[in-house]
Amino acid sequence: MKKKIAIARGDGIGPEVVVEGIKILKILEKFSDYQFDFVETPLGGQVLKDTGTNLPQKSFDQMKECDAILFGAIGLPDLPLGAAESAISKIRHGLDLYVNLRPIKLFESLRDKCPLKEEYIQDGIDMTIIRENTEGLYAKKGAEVSDNTVINKMIYTRKSVERIIKFGFEYAKNKGHSEIISVDKANLLECSQFWREIYLEIGKDYQDIAQKNFYIDSFCQWLIRKPYSVQTVVTENMFGDIISDEAAYLIGSLGMVASGNINPGKVSMYEPIHGSAPDIADKGIANPIGMILSIKLMLEESFGEKTYGDLIEKAVELSLEEGRTIDILPHPKSDLRKGKLKTLNTNGMGDLISQRFQTLLRK
Ligand code: IPM
Ligand code: MG
Repeated sequence: MKKKIAIARGDGIGPEVVVEGIKILKILEKFSDYQFDFVETPLGGQVLKDTGTNLPQKSFDQMKECDAILFGAIGLPDLPLGAAESAISKIRHGLDLYVNLRPIKLFESLRDKCPLKEEYIQDGIDMTIIRENTEGLYAKKGAEVSDNTVINKMIYTRKSVERIIKFGFEYAKNKGHSEIISVDKANLLECSQFWREIYLEIGKDYQDIAQKNFYIDSFCQWLIRKPYSVQTVVTENMFGDIISDEAAYLIGSLGMVASGNINPGKVSMYEPIHGSAPDIADKGIANPIGMILSIKLMLEESFGEKTYGDLIEKAVELSLEEGRTIDILPHPKSDLRKGKLKTLNTNGMGDLISQRFQTLLRK
């Protein structure tokens, strides 16, 4: 099976983690029928400085021709706010990537890195946040800027709300989840009232799944109070952006979380949620696991390939017992630190996971 993958390395730690993602795909090539053709599609802050645009037309045209896109991160501190970042909106809108899928799973060996006490973790944390990815405040339509007033409009259309909520219910059903939560602010915002109406309507077709609603403020609290109970969450764009960073810290680090910007059946884009992190760029200390798990998501969501995805996750799990990047190392005073757990740089962590993946593929 030949697959063309667009490689959008970007800025900051983006390029460092993309290398580790490609390593995993190259191992998979050796042990399976997959053959990957990597197409470089430069974008981001540095590209903006060099060429005057953060997403050259050639890069975008090539992305459209690929089977999937692997995205590192974008953003540079010396550029005006949003100058580099708008490239990601251009891709999300341009390819109509209306689902932002963000699985949040606490690996058993990272329990010590969860900031919550045991009673709040119980049997573990394993949830998926499904974020609407093209509308809301991110629709960027009708903004008005003057000296004394600035207006951003939160826009929702029936088509967009219906498709994301349907995706959420189908996802919950396929995963065998017993409950779904919709997060809104329907006690105040018309957009949210519209959202909730559609959620309740579509929910009638999924009577086997318990359906809850939370206001965004109350959900932020629920997320730290009973995270072990949360399964599928479906929400609008900006609420999803916010709660996914909160949830990420529950599993140890922002560096652990993968995401898929998906248009089911069409070219989709996979990226870790951590961003360009300029403060740690070029130091070789970035955690590549969010990127490596993004490869798992790509295989599952774009190529319908569950087995290899599961092996990637297993390889990560095994590796965490042996070595870790500094963001997920146990506290220096912890007994866990006295064992044989190695401190690894980005490259070392990627190599270890690749080796474990290779061993699993050989079996
Ligand atoms: C994310 C990021 C982006 C977003 C930024 C970089 C614009 O925070 O993917 O979560 O807000 O969507
Ligand atoms: Mg974000």
